[in-house]
This record gives sequence, structure tokens and C-alpha cells, in this order.
Amino acid sequence: MREQLQALQQEALTRLQGAGSVAELEQIRVQTLGKKGSLTLLLRGLAGVSVAERPVLGELANALKDAFNVALQRRMEILQEEDLARRLVAEQLDVTLPGRVPPQGGIHPISRALGEIIAIFSSMGFPPATGPEVEDDWHNFEALNIPADHPAREMHDTFYLPPGIKGEKRLLRTHTSTVQIRVMESRKPPLRVIAPGKVFRCDSDLTHTPMFHQVEGFLVDEGVHFGQLKGILERFLRLFFARELPVRFRPSFFPFTEPSAEADMGCLFCDGGGCRVCKGTGWIEVLGCGLIHPNVLANVGIDQERYSGFAFGMGVERLAMLKYGIQDLRLFFENDLRFLQQHARL
Ligand code: FA5
Ligand code: MG
Repeated sequence: MREQLQALQQEALTRLQGAGSVAELEQIRVQTLGKKGSLTLLLRGLAGVSVAERPVLGELANALKDAFNVALQRRMEILQEEDLARRLVAEQLDVTLPGRVPPQGGIHPISRALGEIIAIFSSMGFPPATGPEVEDDWHNFEALNIPADHPAREMHDTFYLPPGIKGEKRLLRTHTSTVQIRVMESRKPPLRVIAPGKVFRCDSDLTHTPMFHQVEGFLVDEGVHFGQLKGILERFLRLFFARELPVRFRPSFFPFTEPSAEADMGCLFCDGGGCRVCKGTGWIEVLGCGLIHPNVLANVGIDQERYSGFAFGMGVERLAMLKYGIQDLRLFFENDLRFLQQHARL
């Protein structure tokens, strides 16, 4: 019995030393001290030894148990330390590395300008509305008092599309005034709306691109007059540019407004002296406006005796070129990274 106990101790301790994981240690513990463990079974045999020998063997067995537990504990600590050391190496973090790369890119200057224009008009009570970019003749021309043979059609270098399935004329809208018609056809006055969006004309130079953005705005109510229109536009320009820039209103012509005007801003690039951008005039045209023509109100079934209205349509690229000091409108759409890095902001 004594030899058996000593052999068992030797074997158990050797196995503990060789254990490579916490799970393996647990297995050895169960196989030694568990209900059916080797030491447990051996101790059961104590009942059969002589009374004289029993205390000696009992003491030996207890010493073995203690030695086993101490060895187990020590091996456990070593394994845990090794495990920690391994994880520290594997999960090492180099705190001297630079942090996250800041986000690249920003908001295109046209989107920024559009966002600001929409915010300013919203604060003045003009919520945005939209309409389709592919339009019919009625919304782009006829309803706006521009019949087929009207010379004003020449003012718009229109991109025509193949006719629709019902043979109807289709075109890319040349201005956002189409949305005036769509809104007036579907809602009753009083009306107050802006309509931002893309428009298309076959045109390209320093101040013209074939696709550009306009923001239309209009108001229909009782007793509307030109002074209100001028006041709103002047207030808008002051808020948008956040500084005093020279503005002039000059009489103009649009078939859908009467009287009509256009507004020019002093040319930023030559201080009014005349340059390539303003074509020597010292002024850059930014918008057209006027009181809505009675024929237009009649075309959409609004009582022209009771209601009147004003409307305006501004060129977003023109406003942005003046605000951000960009001399050539075409730069907005060339996607040159150097340009975008300079002008696209968050
Ligand atoms: C119009 O398009 C009218 N629908 C504006 C209007 C609305 C008048 C409501 C009265 C009532 P115009 O063709 O002038 O007007 O264009 C308006 C503005 O768009 C111009 O003042 C200019 O700022 C801008 N614009 C015109 N053509 C181009 C172009 N090819 N590229 C960039 N901006 C342009
Ligand atoms: Mg014009």
C-alpha cells in the first residue's frame, strides 16, 4: 500500500508538470481526486489494512493529497501566466502608430450653395418642391406663355428628346419655371414655394455650362406687388453673401412675367472694371424675376382678378462662383481633384 501511494504520487506529480493547458489540469485533478479517481479508490482500500498501519497510511495519503493540490495550484498559476504573456504579444497595440485617418472628401461647392439657398428661403417661409427633369412642351413652354412660334423659344437652347410612347414632345427642362406650373396645377393659392434642381441648355463658356442648377421661387396671393419681390431677393442676397456686394435690378423680358427684371451682381473678379468673366461689363447676371403674367395664371385656372404673384429663377453656379471666387463655371463639373480639395468642405 505504501509503495502504491508513493508510485501514485510520483505519477500524478509528473503528469501535472507535463500538463499544457488549464483543461488538461482539470482532467488530471478529476482522474486523481474525483469520485472514481486513482487516489480515491486507493483510499477506499484503507479499510482492509491493519489497525496499526492505518494511521500511518492515512497520514501519508493526506500528505500526498496536499502535495498534489499545491503542485496543481502552482502549475495552474504558471499556465495562466504563460497564457497572459502569449495574449499580450498577440494582442499587442502599437500606441505610437498615428490615429485614424481623417475622412477624405467633402461637400461639393454646388451642393453647399444649394443647401444654403434652401435654408435661407425655408427661414423665409418658402418650402422646397420638385418636378421632373424630362419635361413636356406644356410645362416648359406652352403654359408659361411661350407658344410654339414664339421667338422667346430661341432664348433657350433646348435639348429635345425622342417623342414619348404617346408621341408627345419630350425635352430636358431648360429652367425650373416648369415647377411653377406643376405646383399651381395641383394646389390652390395662397402658395409660397421654392424649386431647386438641374436644368439643361446647349451652352458652354466661362459663365455657361450645358447642365446647371436653378432655384425657382414664387408666391401667389392677394395683393402681391413688385416691392415685395425686390425686398425678398435683396434680403436673400445679403444673407447668402454675408457681405455687401453691389446688386442692380434692370428691366428685362420673360414671356411668363410682366413686368420682368434681371438682377446682376458686381463682378468680383475685376471689381467692376470689366474682365473676361463679366465680358467687360463689370456685372454678372444671377437671376431673372417678375410678376407672374396673367396668361400663366389663366393657364393653370387661378382667378387672376383675385390673385397675383411674383416669381424668380436664380443660377446656383453663378451665385457660387461669386461667393467662392471661382472664375470658370466649367470647373464645377470637371472633377479635378485639385479643385475639389480646395473647394469641397464638410
Ligand atoms: C430663366 O431661366 C427664367 N426661368 C428665370 C425666371 C424665373 C424669370 C421666374 C422670371 C420668373 P434665364 O434664362 O435668364 O431665366 O436664367 C436664369 C439664371 O440662370 C441666369 O440669370 C443665370 O444666373 C443662370 N444661367 C442661365 N444659363 C446658364 C448656363 N448655361 N450656365 C449657368 N447658369 C446659367
Ligand atoms: Mg437671363
